[in-house]
Amino acid sequence: MNVMNKTFLPISAILLITAVSYSDCSSSKKITSNTSASSLKETFKKYFLIGTALNSSQIEEKDPKAAELILQQFNTATPENIMKAEIIHPEWDRYNFDLADKLVAYGKKHGISINAHTLIWHSQLPRFVREMKDADSVKQYFSNHIKTVAGRYNGKVLSWDVVNEALNEDGTMRKSVFLDYLGENFVTEAFRLTQQAAPQTELYYNDYNIEQPGKRAGCIALIKKIQAAAVRIDGVGIQGHWHLGKMPLKEIEESILAYSALGIKVMFTELDIEVLPRDFSGADVSQRMKSDPSLNPYINGLPDSVQQQLANDYEALFRLFLKYKDKVSRVTFWGVNDGQSWLNGWPVPGRTNYPLLFDREFKPKPAYYKVMALAGNNL
Ligand code: G3I
Repeated sequence: MNVMNKTFLPISAILLITAVSYSDCSSSKKITSNTSASSLKETFKKYFLIGTALNSSQIEEKDPKAAELILQQFNTATPENIMKAEIIHPEWDRYNFDLADKLVAYGKKHGISINAHTLIWHSQLPRFVREMKDADSVKQYFSNHIKTVAGRYNGKVLSWDVVNEALNEDGTMRKSVFLDYLGENFVTEAFRLTQQAAPQTELYYNDYNIEQPGKRAGCIALIKKIQAAAVRIDGVGIQGHWHLGKMPLKEIEESILAYSALGIKVMFTELDIEVLPRDFSGADVSQRMKSDPSLNPYINGLPDSVQQQLANDYEALFRLFLKYKDKVSRVTFWGVNDGQSWLNGWPVPGRTNYPLLFDREFKPKPAYYKVMALAGNNL
């Protein structure tokens, strides 16, 4: 597909021009880059997959700039919303596979592997499930949903986030319709049913803050329980919704070692770095903050000092990922560029956020060049 037209420069030209302009900066800002001709996926392909979350307009290739950047930079993708139960299974006996089928076709056409997201999650559930009042109905839904959805994409997607965010911050099980009606064993049962329905698909547990010691202990116990039941689990996804200047590097390193010791893949599945004020960590979508102009300080652009901090944070993270390249199998960003990030709308609506490696014009940011240079030095 020719996505170039006269209204914008191709992304490859933008990358080259931006690389040159960064190397022209004053020495304090200078960012070494020998990577102008390359891309994230090329640079890291020996080490791990590089992914992005895709929204529905990106799956349908409606935005030519996004379409070009995605194909250039990423070799794996996770649907941001369209495979969640609320969308793919809106009514008891009705499924909506349109966009998920398009995603699978898109991945096949472009050689992008798909991590399907997500089968069992307490959030974004269809109304009929939220209103269930008895165990039999929940059990039937649970089984039908997994068999039908996972079964349809068996062999067509690389992997499933089988269960998402089942844990509280202290490592205990989170209250949900599944815990209430099916009991703590619902996680193991979800993996068992998915294994049966999708034997050719890798099966992962995915959650945020599971690098933190308390939640990590709960997560390790959960994984061991699945393994003890002789049910397959292939990997764990540490989401990676972190905050500027507060990267939990020690906890991440400990977690890479602890999870890989269980014999499973370790992935960073929803990476972004919040640069705006927020008074809690993680990604619990039910948490909100009241809108206030002081919470949206960078509507006219990111100050250079913050931009540099963001670059340093990403560099430190990727240094760790590269140190453990034999254990980390995938790094997926939660969005293509800053303008398309969910963090513009959460936990405060209508903010201007800057959490990713590409800006609103799809141009690579200093963080991109720092990460790329790091890998270049590692080759
Ligand atoms: O589709 C409706 C649309 O019809 C409606 O007009 C519009 C009005 O608000 O809402 C649209 O739905 C929104 C949906 O994204 C699609 O854009 C929801 O309101 C909005 O809440 C939803 O947010 C998503 C969030 O999960 C919901 O739980 C974010 O895009 C998505 O990035 C986020 O992703 C989660 C991961 O799945 C799990 N880990 C945390 C991560 C961040 O919260």
